[in-house]
Amino acid sequence: MATVGVVGVGYVGLTQALGMSQLGHSVIAYDQDLEKINGLQRGNSPFFEPGLESALKESIFKKKIFFTNDVKLFAETDFIFLCLPTPEGHLGSADTSYLFKAINDISNFLRPNTFLIIKSTVPLGTATKIKGEIKRDDLPVISNPEFLREGSAFFDFHNPDRIVIGAESIKWSQMVSELYKGISTEFVLTDNDSAELIKYGSNAFLAIKLSYVNDLAGLCDRVGANAQDVLYAIGLDKRIGDKFLTPGPGWGGSCFPKDTQALIYISNQESFSMPLLKAAVQSNRNTQARLVEKIKNIFPRLDEISVAVLGLSFKANTDDTRNSPAIDIVNTLIGLGVNAKCYDPAVDEHNDLNIYKNLLEVFVDANLILVLTEWSEFKLINPFKISKIVKEKKVLDARGILPKDRWKKYGFEFL
Ligand code: UGA
Repeated sequence: MATVGVVGVGYVGLTQALGMSQLGHSVIAYDQDLEKINGLQRGNSPFFEPGLESALKESIFKKKIFFTNDVKLFAETDFIFLCLPTPEGHLGSADTSYLFKAINDISNFLRPNTFLIIKSTVPLGTATKIKGEIKRDDLPVISNPEFLREGSAFFDFHNPDRIVIGAESIKWSQMVSELYKGISTEFVLTDNDSAELIKYGSNAFLAIKLSYVNDLAGLCDRVGANAQDVLYAIGLDKRIGDKFLTPGPGWGGSCFPKDTQALIYISNQESFSMPLLKAAVQSNRNTQARLVEKIKNIFPRLDEISVAVLGLSFKANTDDTRNSPAIDIVNTLIGLGVNAKCYDPAVDEHNDLNIYKNLLEVFVDANLILVLTEWSEFKLINPFKISKIVKEKKVLDARGILPKDRWKKYGFEFL
């Protein structure tokens, strides 16, 4: 078993750190945020992720993980996972400054042959750039992109569809793949550039798929076809697959929006045209606009209506509201004069939004029920109870999760 360092304990870093400790490695997890480090060392997770808190407590109890803000401790590690954020920067490019700063901060303390493993989603050529900048040719630089979904990050860590390792030498790739011993999956060993592109290529592919799904669902709506049936039947074709076929209010989160922009930026830099990707981004904006338009068409006086908004996070099982289509839609509606009463099981506050802790309260005198996030608890809402407190029995279920027949029995109309 190895001594593994992790730099940056956000969603990716913390999952990677705990996952590695669960595989038996000793983990030193670093973050510059002292408050976060102290909380983690006491077993408190800085965000909500299913399974995280118990994994954290167990690894601390077994002394398999240690949180620190002292970079010098990396002198004791064999492998270091770099899990820094790479937010959207100038003209859609990925901002790698946190990554480079971290490498700069730690590289002097590392003993020879310590592996620098890039987990962050980075532009093509980043590994090569790091090799050029660290001025230490005794530190192998590896590209090992993550494919963790928020809300099921632990499951994904232990059950990946593949593990991609990009390196200059096959021997180095094999040494890194040894770290994942215990996980049964296919290992794709390749070069650094290809590994970097696999990550962007995957996220952009999924975003394109969802844009198409949302457009098709919009067309179904226009012509009166049943989108659920249409997409279900399409998904039965094994070449297409039944995953990522659920229409929604648009794709969001901390990855797809920035990664599609970053890939567009990369292709522009190379003067290589990727029109499909650009269209997918535009289509995603249209999906949100269509939803708002639909509400406008039904309620010409938006300043006179109250909307019960169910869900604010960008998807279920996370408290993450970064680039959440739900937030964008609610803000647009508020800008048009709507009184939006919001509820989300994991989001208690967000800027000036009117968020209720009690689900039932948002329905009081509502003209419309608007479902924007697919939380399971919404499926269990009792329509009979709700029918007594709303003003109008109208539902716009952008996630298609409410049991329609049951709601219709109590007079609700689905828009
Ligand atoms: C995504 C990828 O799925 C991960 O593989 C990747 O590691 C991660 O980005 C990343 O780059 O770090 P995540 O952003 O957590 O993961 O969320 P997804 O589950 O992929 O959902 C993305 C968006 O698509 C959400 O807004 C979600 O609501 C939407 N979506 C997803 C749908 O509208 N319908 C679907 O059928 C699936």
